[in-house]
Amino acid sequence: MSLAALLEGLAIPIIQAPMAGASSPEMALAVSRAGGLGSVAVAAFAPDEIEAAVGKVRAGTDAPFAINLLVSSKPTPDADTLDRALERLRPWYDEAGLALPERPNRFAHDFDAQFAATLRAAPAIASFAFDMISRERIQALQAAGSYVVGTANTVAEARAWAEAGADGVCAQGMEAGGHRGNFLADVEASLVGTMALVATVRAAVGLPVIAAGGIMDGRGVAATLALGAAAAQMGSAFLLSEQAITGPIWQEAIRKAPDDPTRLTRAFSGRYARGLENRFMREMRAIEDDVPAYPVQNRLTQPLRAAAAKAGDPEMMSLWAGQAIGLARAGEAGEQVRRWWAEAQEASRALARRTGVRT
Ligand SMILES: Cc1cc2nc3c(=O)[nH]c(=O)nc-3n(C[C@H](O)[C@H](O)[C@H](O)COP(=O)(O)O)c2cc1C
Repeated sequence: MSLAALLEGLAIPIIQAPMAGASSPEMALAVSRAGGLGSVAVAAFAPDEIEAAVGKVRAGTDAPFAINLLVSSKPTPDADTLDRALERLRPWYDEAGLALPERPNRFAHDFDAQFAATLRAAPAIASFAFDMISRERIQALQAAGSYVVGTANTVAEARAWAEAGADGVCAQGMEAGGHRGNFLADVEASLVGTMALVATVRAAVGLPVIAAGGIMDGRGVAATLALGAAAAQMGSAFLLSEQAITGPIWQEAIRKAPDDPTRLTRAFSGRYARGLENRFMREMRAIEDDVPAYPVQNRLTQPLRAAAAKAGDPEMMSLWAGQAIGLARAGEAGEQVRRWWAEAQEASRALARRTGVRT
């Protein structure tokens, strides 16, 4: 078996994108059961929670699914950096009626332990973003029976994953909601649209390419398959799903979003991410280059974002969403996937008529 064969064998070549803080194991289960491929985002999970989440999906289906990790090394910011970063956030903490937090001594779960738990869980697919993992780790996952997918924002990143021995590449276009996965060049040099990225990555590497960014319905699925993608990965399209854990304030902001509502920001987390523009993004823009890198800033703004969600204030929350978020609709995740596939088939028939192909 190969990753290409696994993706080819899916009844529905749609991958539910891993979305830390938005997708859920229940969503992954519903999508894999429907014939697509669900993904469990475990970046915010402790190692034992990773095993529990995998157990939950496995108990519900024999179908394949993916586990997704965000690659990071243990940050060691000095006290001065932390104090300055906290000071910058003081007006926001004051406004939220919260005391400025103490300096945290932990910023994220230990990646090595998360990796070990993923290796033990041996999902059909293990996918990674934010950086590469070593060739040894890729081989260890493969020996355990997992295919390895690396996220690339550029052709150079896709080549790097291919050279390290990955089984496939997720080509994440600049339209995508959530964090950018770039790790070789700065964000400005890594903002390639999905259409250009999928086609150029396909031409550069001999691996299956998963297209991500801006795919919101069956037309987008058909379009990316036509570009040569092995599967279409959809994230923002699931943010209003029954199985999403986005919560009422985030969902309301999506429903009420104006035209062209997203921007990139590094103010919330210290890594560029796309979300609905709000007051925090606007007012932090002038100093966002100064905030400490992910995951430090992410940890420092965490209590603020949680308090804002609780108070029903969308202006201080990270409302991650992609450029095409205006097309998001509510629904049950399994039914959504089936509907998008029916739409993709209809779009293909319409295209065949338009291009004069007899069907
Ligand atoms: C709320 C949210 C959270 C995300 N979290 C992750 C994550 O944990 N890991 C990851 O590799 N990508 C993450 N992404 C990116 C998605 O996997 C995917 O690339 C993106 O959603 C595709 O673009 P779209 O939103 O236009 O469909 C996230 C995206 C969103 C919207």
